[in-house]
Amino acid sequence: MLPLVSHPHTATRLANARVMWAATRFAWWWSIVDLLRRGGIESRHFYGRFYDGVTGLVTTAGSGGSFLNYGYASAGAMEPWDGDDALDPTSRASLALYRRTATDAGTFSCAGLDVLEAGAGLGGGAAWLARHERPRRMVALDVSAAAVRACRERHLPRTGLSFEHGDAQALPFVDDSFDVVLSVESSHTYPRFDDFVREARRVLRDGGLLLLADFRAAGRIERLREAIAREGFEIEVCEDVTDNVVAALRQTSAAKERRIASLALPRFVARQVAYFAGATSSEKFARFARRDDVYLRLRARKRGLASAGSQA
Ligand SMILES: C[S@@+](CC[C@H](N)C(=O)[O-])C[C@H]1O[C@@H](n2cnc3c(N)ncnc32)[C@H](O)[C@@H]1O
Repeated sequence: MLPLVSHPHTATRLANARVMWAATRFAWWWSIVDLLRRGGIESRHFYGRFYDGVTGLVTTAGSGGSFLNYGYASAGAMEPWDGDDALDPTSRASLALYRRTATDAGTFSCAGLDVLEAGAGLGGGAAWLARHERPRRMVALDVSAAAVRACRERHLPRTGLSFEHGDAQALPFVDDSFDVVLSVESSHTYPRFDDFVREARRVLRDGGLLLLADFRAAGRIERLREAIAREGFEIEVCEDVTDNVVAALRQTSAAKERRIASLALPRFVARQVAYFAGATSSEKFARFARRDDVYLRLRARKRGLASAGSQA
């Protein structure tokens, strides 16, 4: 067999070709999803393929981070931190969003509970929760098969933690099997958000919690709250964290822009990646800064008898 990667230049060229191929797939699926969305068509299948592309790009070109959200930062004061000190600043901001959402800023513990995460992405949040909070069972689900494979390679084995492939709108779990359903920056791509809320209610035990962090166009926020209330949840906390997301993006943008520039991608692909990453040069950042898009953190309880592990 020819020693294909023995020469350093050959190895670099191969690595660059892999990044370019991954970026092309990302751009292709981005364009398909965007085109369909503009035509009023949304499909979990295409989102799954798009996030396969995201996973491919992050794993071949990324810094090894395990988060795909815009992050959370306190404007002014330092955000309290009990995460992993080895994390880079971008991952820290993303983990801070998890901490804020999943532990109610440190006032709620899912220790000993059964937790389901819908739309776990690269699994950084689920792995942190499993390690730090010690739920009895932490099941992390994602519609992207590539993301699930990457999660299993990165974060397993760990007792009580598993990664499953599936759709948040048709959860592959029996009724009354979880105490908490968590979803971070995933639900904006569910074509049938109501189905997700109904499914979350079905798999939750009475008194169980739906913990959600995500954004919507400002005019659609009320619809989101109504869908959750209509499906039998009591909304206990609904916090507008748009300013915190903007602060996190400001803090992490320069590093993201440097990383994107270092990949030497074709300009239109680099622009798409910058949009996806919420870099301050992107229209995505501008939408948050102008509050065209509003970011919420929400805790809702399934109406029923008991309450699940609440300290609040
Ligand atoms: C922006 S990423 C966020 C990932 C992770 N929660 C985080 O904060 O790092 C959105 C994730 O939701 C997943 N997703 C989108 N639609 C889904 C669906 N219908 N069911 C399950 N996962 C879905 C995507 O595959 C992607 O991994």
